[in-house]
Amino acid sequence: MPLLIKNADIVNADSRYSADILCADDVITRIAPSIESSPGTEVIDAAGRLVFPGFIDPHTHIYLPFMGTFSKDDYASGTKAALVGGTTTIFEMVCPSRQMSHAEGFAVWHKQAQGRACCDYGFHMGVTRFDDNSAAELREIVAQGVGSFKVFLAYKGAFGVEDTELWNTLSLARELGVVVAAHCENETLVAEMQARLLAAGRTGPDAHYESRPPRVEAEGVHHLCTFAEFTGATVYVVHLSCREALAAAIDARARGVMVFVETLIQYLLLDKTWAERPGFQGAKYVMSPPLRDQANQEVLWNGLAGGLVQTVATDHAPFDFASQKTMGRDDFTRIPNGIPAIEDRVTLLWTHGVKTGRLSLEQFVAVASTNAARIFGLWPRKGVIQPGADADLVIWDPDYRGIISARNQTQAVDYNAFEGMPIEGRPAVVTVRGEVAVRDGRFCGTEGRGRFLQCHRTP
Ligand code: URP
Ligand code: ZN
Ligand code: ZN
Repeated sequence: MPLLIKNADIVNADSRYSADILCADDVITRIAPSIESSPGTEVIDAAGRLVFPGFIDPHTHIYLPFMGTFSKDDYASGTKAALVGGTTTIFEMVCPSRQMSHAEGFAVWHKQAQGRACCDYGFHMGVTRFDDNSAAELREIVAQGVGSFKVFLAYKGAFGVEDTELWNTLSLARELGVVVAAHCENETLVAEMQARLLAAGRTGPDAHYESRPPRVEAEGVHHLCTFAEFTGATVYVVHLSCREALAAAIDARARGVMVFVETLIQYLLLDKTWAERPGFQGAKYVMSPPLRDQANQEVLWNGLAGGLVQTVATDHAPFDFASQKTMGRDDFTRIPNGIPAIEDRVTLLWTHGVKTGRLSLEQFVAVASTNAARIFGLWPRKGVIQPGADADLVIWDPDYRGIISARNQTQAVDYNAFEGMPIEGRPAVVTVRGEVAVRDGRFCGTEGRGRFLQCHRTP
């Protein structure tokens, strides 16, 4: 059914204006000062609200076999939670084990998503080893619509790649015009410091931070960028958490390296004291890189406002506290790493970014939607409200007031890291390609309607 949104206060990354928006057959067909409705058209009055392009989470792990367990969401619960929070597109990390081929991994993740995903999704193809078959497999995967690879410079013995594998991945990416996302921490330094801390009897979650201090992350960023410099690849640093790592990226940019930077809503709002909470509660806040000293938050907010940091993601990796985080009760290195956030990223960014004046409305749209669409080859299909774009729209209620709680969340995990935090605004209506998928905090869309997105980067 066609959809007409009347009285829309449209906000794009580079513009704000009032108009009506007509949607049909998945896309925005017309934007004009006044559009008459025709019979059979659903009409929504957006007066008093803002209308944003659907938000994009460029880094999620809905399905993740990791550290001896599996992340808790499936594609139905994870994408419903995304939509409730205004995220209409996710980029999932395909993370095959080092024993799996890339082709197998790609097929497994497709199977998980197909028929379950409620919003559209792209894949970053994890390159967790590089052997004689890898180049051919990765070429085929790129031909099937993947526009980005993912490498881990961390997680020794699991997903982490050696330097020759890194070189080969970046060289292939450069040839294919594919951007390479990277988890940047020096895996050897982490492994050695973990061992040293455990030997000293430091087994609790508070030791996690000390095993991966800022310089270890900065070394990872410097390492990646040096390889990018000599291969000519474009790279994207995922979940950057601290001043030292940002400085390494800025330094590389000054040398001509094409490097983009992502931070997370977790790093903007939570600090390392959360992982030091007593009674093993800190395990809820164990992720890598770890939560940092509070002083880093201002650096990251300023980085977003100043264009040094391009995107805000979640790295959504949901592990139950009661049955999964406790796997590391006697050894912090066994706590499954990750802090779920897919549902709350946008409302928190709005509350702490826009409402506080740290970000303009346009910057908010850029870092939560448009920049990811541009970097990963989805723009102008996603990330902008204009004729021809997919009709992924978020009608935003700036007057809503609420409190975040696991008790009423959609994501399938037994805690919420932002429990008790107030939010000042939320999506009133969310559409996925013209179909209303959320009304007032409840999913009402179609399970399985989400599509795999073909990403084509134009360098
Ligand atoms: O702690 C994290 N970040 N968990 C998810 C896996 C990853 O490193 O992205
Ligand atoms: Zn990571
Ligand atoms: Zn991740």
